[in-house]
Amino acid sequence: MANKANATQPEIGVIGGSGFYSFLDDVTEVQVDTPYGAPSDSLFLGEVAGRRVAFLPRHGRGHHLPPHRINYRANLWALRSVGVRQVLGPCAVGGLRSEYGPGTLLVPDQLVDRTKSRANTFYDGVPLADGTTPNVVHVSLADPYCSTGRRIAVKAARGRDWEPVDGGTLVVIEGPRFSTRAESRWHAAQGWSVVGMTGHPEAALARELELCYTSMTLVTDLDAGAEAGEGVSHEEVLEVFAANVDRLRSVLFDVVAELPAEADRDCLCGSALNGSDTGIRLP
Ligand code: ADE
Repeated sequence: MANKANATQPEIGVIGGSGFYSFLDDVTEVQVDTPYGAPSDSLFLGEVAGRRVAFLPRHGRGHHLPPHRINYRANLWALRSVGVRQVLGPCAVGGLRSEYGPGTLLVPDQLVDRTKSRANTFYDGVPLADGTTPNVVHVSLADPYCSTGRRIAVKAARGRDWEPVDGGTLVVIEGPRFSTRAESRWHAAQGWSVVGMTGHPEAALARELELCYTSMTLVTDLDAGAEAGEGVSHEEVLEVFAANVDRLRSVLFDVVAELPAEADRDCLCGSALNGSDTGIRLP
């Protein structure tokens, strides 16, 4: 890790865009390498509300990484290796119900994986560069998100007069293309709420590292099956995200302020491995 001497040890990680750290005064940039390769970018360490935070641009600076090329394992490993134990994962999504229009904030409590080609576990039995071989480990992902983080996120949004949807299912598609109308209608017919491209394997990998993970989804468009128009365009996603980034950042920072100190984490995330012999030493 470069610049380690200057770096504060962060406790909370935020995986999101540059809108979440670029305005902070005192940011330390650190490069972290991992057994899984390089994360999407440097980590940007700073302080928010007296809490030490590591920001990681999910798609890299300049947004050059499409969702299926993101090294999710390296991202989560890098965050853990600098001390992070609680992660917030804001992301843009499409709404699958007409009432979840652009500007809706939905804090999901469930996840459906429809991705195809992503390395989605640390425990795949393949030897690492350091010679250790991970064992086979099956973590529970019945409830993929941290219960404490979810509660705090919902409360923080309300505190900013932004009534969120409390719960719902995020379906994650492979991308980078958007869904066809038939796929989208099928997702909606299953009762799923919003569709995105990055929520998996982020949540699952966080659980495998015993990290708390809270997803906060910002609806930027109605997905193809939920509207009668031309379908989703990248431009509208960027436009709506930009129009909401200030209030999303305010909510995020309120969440950071309220997350429990490490000694007070009372959820089950920190014991997800439950004594499993992982075969590797977590950073
Ligand atoms: N991200 C933002 N909008 C999306 C959509 N409609 N489908 C998948 N990912 C998205």
